[in-house]
Amino acid sequence: MKIVVLIPEMKEAVREIKARAKTVGFVPTMGFLHEGHLSLVRECRKAADATVVSIFVNPLQFGPKEDFKEYPRDLERDARLLEAEGVDFLFYPEASKMYPGGFKTMVEVPGLQDKLCGRSRPGHFRGVCTVVLKLFHIVQPDIAFFGQKDAQQALIIQRMVKDLDMDIDIRVLPIVRERDGLALSSRNTYLNAKERQAALILRQSLVEAERMFEAGERRAGVILARMRDLISQELLARIDYVAIVDLEELDPVETIDRDVLVALAVYIGKTRLIDNTVLKERKKG
Ligand code: PAJ
Repeated sequence: MKIVVLIPEMKEAVREIKARAKTVGFVPTMGFLHEGHLSLVRECRKAADATVVSIFVNPLQFGPKEDFKEYPRDLERDARLLEAEGVDFLFYPEASKMYPGGFKTMVEVPGLQDKLCGRSRPGHFRGVCTVVLKLFHIVQPDIAFFGQKDAQQALIIQRMVKDLDMDIDIRVLPIVRERDGLALSSRNTYLNAKERQAALILRQSLVEAERMFEAGERRAGVILARMRDLISQELLARIDYVAIVDLEELDPVETIDRDVLVALAVYIGKTRLIDNTVLKERKKG
């Protein structure tokens, strides 16, 4: 595996791959890798000739009071994990090269970017779209992999790629969880033992939503009230949002008469965690 720091070097490596008529697969990450990230890497290895993984803790997508400084980092361990997966290139750019003085251009997906997580994290998805578009231009992937863990992010990236006529096949892969149901996240390292236990309430409330839906409940309000009630019983938990929305515009749905996303963000102590599930209307016949 080659570790590439400089943008022109990454572009040159991609040019060489493409000159040999090979396809490029790409997995953008912020590092501190776990099995969720690695599931994307493994699919990428299967789907493309060459696999590029980026690690870049993108300052642009963190708010002024958010955890940019504390965000966990361990390049050595990450590099070892990626090497073991057979990754071809680890792209590890510097912030001063990604955003040199005078940098101004921002990429926005209005409408989608202001809902759900966008409400409590203004500017977050603008930061995500801007960095992902830059990374796409540098890496020129044929296929790129994202996790359903960040459902809104995946949807927004798909929208951006479609709207801007980019020829990139965006694949979204399922949420990887711990055995007890907690969705893997680099931020789980912030949790102490009590908070780690309390964090199970996210998945438990989603399982309850799934159970109610299976039992025939179609009133979103009734499901949401039950989820909020469950979460409020966990003393360490504070709800940021719990929502049932459609999968195109992320608008609230009152009656579940199509596939919907049940998404939530909950503070466990000071740590903001997200999780989601899709409720699918079974097709008849
Ligand atoms: P990061 O949080 O490092 O996540 C990188 C990718 O891994 C994202 O597509 C995310 O959805 C996926 N992922 C994270 N946890 C997962 C899990 N438990 N199961 C499956 N996939 C999971 O998302 C970002 O970085 C950044 O916003 C980025 C896209 C790199 C732009 O900076």
